[in-house]
Amino acid sequence: MKPAVKVTITGAAGHIGYALVFRIASGAMFGQEQPVILRLLEIPQSMSALSGVRMELEDCAFPLLHDIVTTDDPTIGFRGTNYAILVGAKPRSKGMERKDLITENAKIFATQGRAINDFAARDVRVVVVGNPANTNALIAAANAPDLDRNQFTAMTRLDHNRALGQLANKTNTLVSDISRMTIWGNHSLTQYPHINHCQVNGQPVFDQVSHDWAIDHFIPRIQRRGAEIIEARGLSSAASAADAVVDHVHDWALGTKDDDWVSMSVHSDGSYGIDEGVVFSYPVTCKDGQYEIVQGLELDDLSVSRLKASEDELRSERAIIAELLP
Ligand code: NAD
Ligand code: LMR
Repeated sequence: MKPAVKVTITGAAGHIGYALVFRIASGAMFGQEQPVILRLLEIPQSMSALSGVRMELEDCAFPLLHDIVTTDDPTIGFRGTNYAILVGAKPRSKGMERKDLITENAKIFATQGRAINDFAARDVRVVVVGNPANTNALIAAANAPDLDRNQFTAMTRLDHNRALGQLANKTNTLVSDISRMTIWGNHSLTQYPHINHCQVNGQPVFDQVSHDWAIDHFIPRIQRRGAEIIEARGLSSAASAADAVVDHVHDWALGTKDDDWVSMSVHSDGSYGIDEGVVFSYPVTCKDGQYEIVQGLELDDLSVSRLKASEDELRSERAIIAELLP
């Protein structure tokens, strides 16, 4: 059997954590041939709840789960870890935007970036889920000077999956019939869910839906889906967020499908004219544990202005947390 992969999950006793750790332990993230060791990091106040999560993991008798470490010490939580999933942070409640969380949550990611820098495996891959996720990923990477910033990503896969679901409903097809969906920008209201390059069963999407539907219904629905869920549940998305984490890491580690791509928030390299100092959601392909931004997609004037609006928002978030960027 292969050596176990070490996966750290912060906020493991929270709502997303509770929906996530069992999926990883069951093999959903890395496949049925890959054992895992879970390193679960919490804050002292949540250690009792975390001990309950640990008991339930033990009680599942997962064959692939080789060990569980629970701790409130980041230097232990990230030690030797291969994948760091940074969920632990405050969620928003009704009426808030995700960026309203910035002052409360940002410091967490500076501390954790430093601990990852000092204690994680040198090829660690990091995905930030805690909001505002893109700017938190920027902070974590900036505090890990010994690592490559491309090892740090933020999650826009939930938006991507939401977009696939809505388009499949509209076209009366299966999500597996749809390819080349893209979420551009920030995991926020300014994100740009973009179907112009999508294919449905290999045919152009606009054979089946109109531009007006995309602009008036699809885009705002995806942009506001997080708030729609908070309105209905009284709590932010958890199971779907955990599922998106599984997809994000699965595809990063094991590769994307031929002739398709996924959406990941990564450090901009200037592609599509975006400031290199922000973490921006792009269409990416993954192979052998590396991602590449899809190049050469045509963007009309409306799309360019939408990307710009999201870039501007990310720059303004960056200005707020500038003191956390060494
Ligand atoms: P939650 O309140 O249920 O759980 C958060 C957990 O994090 C708690 O158990 C808390 O004790 C822990 N925590 C807080 N600070 C910590 C720290 N410094 N180290 C380790 N653990 C810490 O919240 P949730 O519903 O699980 O959501 C977590 C975050 O994920 C929120 O910021 C939410 O907005 C975000 N989120 C992002 C997406 C996305 O698509 N990117 C989707 C859903 C939720
Ligand atoms: C989501 O998109 O569901 C999460 O970012 C939670 C939120 O605050 O909307």
